[in-house]
Amino acid sequence: MKSELCVLAVAIIGYVSAQSKEIQEDPCKVKSRVVSDVTYCDRYWECVDGQPELYDCPNGLVFAGKNRGVTEGCDYPWRSNYCAGKQQANPPIGTEHCEWLYGIFGHETSCTRYWTCWNGTTTEQFCIGGLLYNEKTHSCDWPDNVVGCQKHPLCNDDPNGNVPLGKSCNRYWQCQGGYPRLQRCPAMLVFDRNSLRCVVPPTEDCDVPSTLPPPRQEEEEFDNVPQNNPKNREQKGEFPNLPPGALPVPAKNNRPRN
Ligand SMILES: *[C@@H]1O[C@H](CO)[C@@H](O)[C@H](O)[C@H]1NC(C)=O
Repeated sequence: MKSELCVLAVAIIGYVSAQSKEIQEDPCKVKSRVVSDVTYCDRYWECVDGQPELYDCPNGLVFAGKNRGVTEGCDYPWRSNYCAGKQQANPPIGTEHCEWLYGIFGHETSCTRYWTCWNGTTTEQFCIGGLLYNEKTHSCDWPDNVVGCQKHPLCNDDPNGNVPLGKSCNRYWQCQGGYPRLQRCPAMLVFDRNSLRCVVPPTEDCDVPSTLPPPRQEEEEFDNVPQNNPKNREQKGEFPNLPPGALPVPAKNNRPRN
């Protein structure tokens, strides 16, 4: 008898607290047949054979909406405010490099590498072109935006020196206090990887610059840099897809020093 009373009390309290909160939407009453759970951001309801059924998002993902997100209507939690006012129901299932089965995570020892995790399968990724992994945006970003990792390994040898950029004859990195900046030699000069400055060609690797566009291979080095900044578009002609901070410095700084 006592335990029955107790169950009743719990039921009443549960009912009252449910009443004071938002009411769970019924997936069978909406056109999409799918609705988010009212309490947990990693759960959703689907109408199956006329009945609401509760589903969990893949571990590490949260509900974004039908046909949205990265898989099964679920998305990385940091891509939007999916979890505002909600909790995650499921704890992380971690693997060696992944906190959750699905996600994008920083590298344990490197600022230029990171891990992508898909159902527990780990893939090591690399930031290229002077970029570092930004834990906040979960993507490669300019060193200025990456707290704790500002000094790029490119500039380890000399925090204020120049560094060749791949096989490029006219572009190079100029380190400024450990921050790499993309630079371009003034017209008709080429970057000399021995003296690390712009010189009159020819050099060991570079002939007189032609007016032909640079080889495709060189452009590809910049393909995975952030692309959501409107400034990038202005620069597109000369420096495709470059994030902010990559603007070439005025030509006077570019002149070879003698
Ligand atoms: C995820 O991995 C598990 C175990 O390796 C496997 O059984 C399952 O089918 C996978 N799920 C998806 C959606 O690939």
